[in-house]
Amino acid sequence: MSIAPSNPLPPPGAAADWTVPQNWRGYTPAEHAMWDRLFARQAAMLPGRATSAFLEGLDVLRLSKAGIPDFDELSARLMDLTGWSVVAVPGLVPDAVFFEHLAHRQFVAGRFIRTPAQLDYLQEPDVFHDVFGHVPLLADPVFADYMQAYGEGGLRSLQYGALDKLARLYWYTVEFGLIREAGELKLYGAGIVSSYGESIFALEDPSPHRLGFDLKRLMRTQYRIDDYQQTYFVIDSFDDLLQQTLQTDFAPLYAELAGLSDLEADAIVEDDVVLNRGAQAYAKARRAGSSSSSTNR
Ligand code: PHE
Ligand code: FE
Repeated sequence: MSIAPSNPLPPPGAAADWTVPQNWRGYTPAEHAMWDRLFARQAAMLPGRATSAFLEGLDVLRLSKAGIPDFDELSARLMDLTGWSVVAVPGLVPDAVFFEHLAHRQFVAGRFIRTPAQLDYLQEPDVFHDVFGHVPLLADPVFADYMQAYGEGGLRSLQYGALDKLARLYWYTVEFGLIREAGELKLYGAGIVSSYGESIFALEDPSPHRLGFDLKRLMRTQYRIDDYQQTYFVIDSFDDLLQQTLQTDFAPLYAELAGLSDLEADAIVEDDVVLNRGAQAYAKARRAGSSSSSTNR
């Protein structure tokens, strides 16, 4: 995820579109080893948990090759498959810049990698979250189209002052989405699949709610940025997600949402399709213990 507050000028050394060279040759052996360590841990636990499209993406993009991927090499493979490429940015980029890249089928990724002390928690998305988490699904033609449509929709949302509503769609699908596959729940959100703890929590823990995907409902729902989600939304297929979002004109939806109150991250409302009504034990325990943190990405 790379949605940041507005900030008009790229930092020194970045191009006008905020991209920087990845400088793959500049990574140290310790940085490559960090990727390998994170990769091995996720690759061992995701089969059977992640959607088959994600696992196939890892495979066709050869992401199991040792070391931090070279974006040029990765982009060449991705370009052949779906016309996407991966470009490096110095950190979070302004919303419009982020959307503009997506609309042009360019995924912006951080180039830095977390340190061993940040194994399970970091504030800003690093190259492991961005590349391991997000890029495999860009090899799926339908999901690839959804990401482009989301970028176009993002630019449009700015005209309606509705970025906060549209950002929730990204959060609850691209970052933290679950999908039904042959009758079973699977993971596809990048924030989940790049996190050891949340990969297990999102799928198997009785604490969070798991609700059927509902566009309007979801865009009213607040989310947690500092801990595991309290609610996950489940889609039927990428095709259904793409068709629903493409075929809905969001302008009247934004107008309607402006008159409705937000829903808490752990709300259950009348028309929800409840797959799991979570007891929220995890969130309650964390609130009671407060302060300490660990999560995501
Ligand atoms: N149909 C949306 C609109 O009218 C655009 C969109 C497509 C948004 C796909 C998100 C995902 O703004
Ligand atoms: Fe992300």
